[in-house]
Amino acid sequence: MDILIINGPNLNLLGKREPEIYGNQSFEDYFSVLKEKFPNLNLHYFQSNSEGLLIDKLHEVGFSIDGIVLNAGAYTHTSIAIADAIAGIKTPVVEVHISNVYARESFRHHSYLSPHCAGCIIGFGLTGYDMAIRFFEDRQQSEKESVLV
Ligand code: DQA
Repeated sequence: MDILIINGPNLNLLGKREPEIYGNQSFEDYFSVLKEKFPNLNLHYFQSNSEGLLIDKLHEVGFSIDGIVLNAGAYTHTSIAIADAIAGIKTPVVEVHISNVYARESFRHHSYLSPHCAGCIIGFGLTGYDMAIRFFEDRQQSEKESVLV
């Protein structure tokens, strides 16, 4: 099973950026941990600070890959274009936020993306990515089991 994690703007600074909110670990380090945790999955990672490149990536993989884990950063709260891209592809998307956006500024309380996502995981730190991957793993297992019944 192929799963792509997509991180949006400023998430390349994880580990350095506001560590009191986002922690001390870089995403590259955490991604190595994830790959060790899920040796049977093909995990991929893409990060961009550019809205257009995030949309291009969703289009590129969104008809072939099994699952997308998306943290669109601040574009979550602004981007109708990314919302349209998620609505337009076939692959299910799980929205992840490291911080509990509902405990922060009110402009972070609205997501244009959530209505088009399979689900949202918010406020559990980097573990949220792990939880999203587990969702896809469990989903595939249930699909296999339902075929057997
Ligand atoms: C974030 C929350 C957003 O509001 C913020 O703009 C980010 C990170 C999170 O993971 O908590 O860049 O998506």
